[in-house]
Amino acid sequence: MNPPPRRRRIRIRNTTPADFEGIRALTREVYKESSPWNIAQLSTHLELFPEGQWVAVDDEERVLGMAASLVICFREYEHRANWTSFTERGFFTNHDPQGRTLYGAEVMVSPFLQRSGVGSKLYAARRSLVQRLGLLRIVAGARLRGYHRHASRLSAQEYTRRVVEGKLKDPTLSFQLRHGFGVFGVVEGYLGHDPESLGYAALIQWLNPAFARAQARVTPASSSEPLSPGGAA
Ligand SMILES: CC(C)(COP(=O)(O)OP(=O)(O)OC[C@H]1O[C@@H](n2cnc3c(N)ncnc32)[C@H](O)[C@@H]1OP(=O)(O)O)[C@@H](O)C(=O)NCCC(=O)NCCS
Repeated sequence: MNPPPRRRRIRIRNTTPADFEGIRALTREVYKESSPWNIAQLSTHLELFPEGQWVAVDDEERVLGMAASLVICFREYEHRANWTSFTERGFFTNHDPQGRTLYGAEVMVSPFLQRSGVGSKLYAARRSLVQRLGLLRIVAGARLRGYHRHASRLSAQEYTRRVVEGKLKDPTLSFQLRHGFGVFGVVEGYLGHDPESLGYAALIQWLNPAFARAQARVTPASSSEPLSPGGAA
């Protein structure tokens, strides 16, 4: 794809079937080593949870970014589950409307448009959905995209610690930390075929502040349901 002019107006809206080919082309641009989202997966996302799927488009409706999400009951998953199990191999057939955790399965922006605010807009759309649906939080796996540069001398845990402390910058995790996410674990084998993260991801969460305030007000400290992962769904 030719680089789009950076001044062009970018809109975030929910995904439609007309965007599928654009999403597939975008995936090929962003993840050169992996297979793109397939039509069966993208169709299932729209059937199960259309509000959780977004694209970023320009005036000509070209797809320049996308985000895909589902709702899960977090306590049903092992802390160390990988992307494949959180997303049922990318099909989202585990989407559970009774759950209280929005799982961020994907967010990507065309390399030509990265660092111009599109990813932030996609994250804002996710946060407002969580607030509108009254969900507890967003959980995602942040692929440690800069880890390959440090893997010979740092464990993935140590790398993540340094990124959290601001001593190192990771192109994905630093961005997510800036959007209010916190890290609650580091997993290996989270993604296959990713030469940048070497398969490692930081598990991250963002808590819906409205819900956190309500919990703090009504629940006695001694019996509070933990807000940490593995607690509420
Ligand atoms: C992670 C990703 C989605 C972020 O998208 P993005 O559109 O680049 O995000 P933004 O432009 O909103 O923010 C990125 C950075 O650019 C900065 N930025 C935003 N607008 C800017 C502008 N006009 N001028 C300069 N910097 C700007 C932001 O402050 C942010 O800085 P930070 O990383 O220090 O926090 C994108 O890098 C991407 O697609 N990566 C590859 C796929 C991937 O790894 N996805 C995540 C899977 S876990």
